[in-house]
Amino acid sequence: MVAPQLVAAAFLYALAAFMVYLFLSGLIWGAGYSPTSRRQLEAAASLLQLKEGDTVYDLGSGFGRALIFFAKERRASAIGFEIDPLRRLITLWNSKRQGVSSHVTVLRGNLLKADLKNASKVFFFLSPLIMRRLQEKVAGEMPPGALVVSVEHLFPDWKPVESVGDVHLYVVPGAADSRIRILEPSRKLA
Ligand SMILES: C[S@@+](CC[C@H](N)C(=O)[O-])C[C@H]1O[C@@H](n2cnc3c(N)ncnc32)[C@H](O)[C@@H]1O
Repeated sequence: MVAPQLVAAAFLYALAAFMVYLFLSGLIWGAGYSPTSRRQLEAAASLLQLKEGDTVYDLGSGFGRALIFFAKERRASAIGFEIDPLRRLITLWNSKRQGVSSHVTVLRGNLLKADLKNASKVFFFLSPLIMRRLQEKVAGEMPPGALVVSVEHLFPDWKPVESVGDVHLYVVPGAADSRIRILEPSRKLA
């Protein structure tokens, strides 16, 4: 029989190793990690009007919490982009364990290289440092009318059309809308 002290020590070592990994992966990939709460995920799914059959992208999908939530709760096909290979592997393992692997895809790589031209629903929880480049990418690639939800961080020049707490919804403007519409004050969706 294994002594309880040994089990406790192994658990503490594993926890410490995981914390060191989170810290080092932040340094290596330049990408930290903060988990999205259930409240934020529920708000995001509603703002994106996610339903069965939709495809939703999570840019910077971490350990797959949002991907698995969207696949499980809304039966959506969820596609993630994640720079850290270990987080990608853990997502694949976890989506299998939760019975939604057929609805979850994770591509490893830089989210700024993701092809968004067919994306109509996009979600992310990133850092303020990337928001300007992401705003340019979304404006340049996504089709007009597409929905974008950002947790916590705002695009520098756009106003959200709706916010639920710190979960913000943007609608990609059409070419003719230009920045005037983008800079309108916040309004509720009909
Ligand atoms: C706050 S976590 C998001 C977690 C996930 N969206 C969720 O809700 O469960 C941010 C994630 O973005 C990833 N990330 C940051 N910059 C990235 C980049 N340029 N390309 C791909 N992934 C990136 C990080 O590795 C991290 O896992």
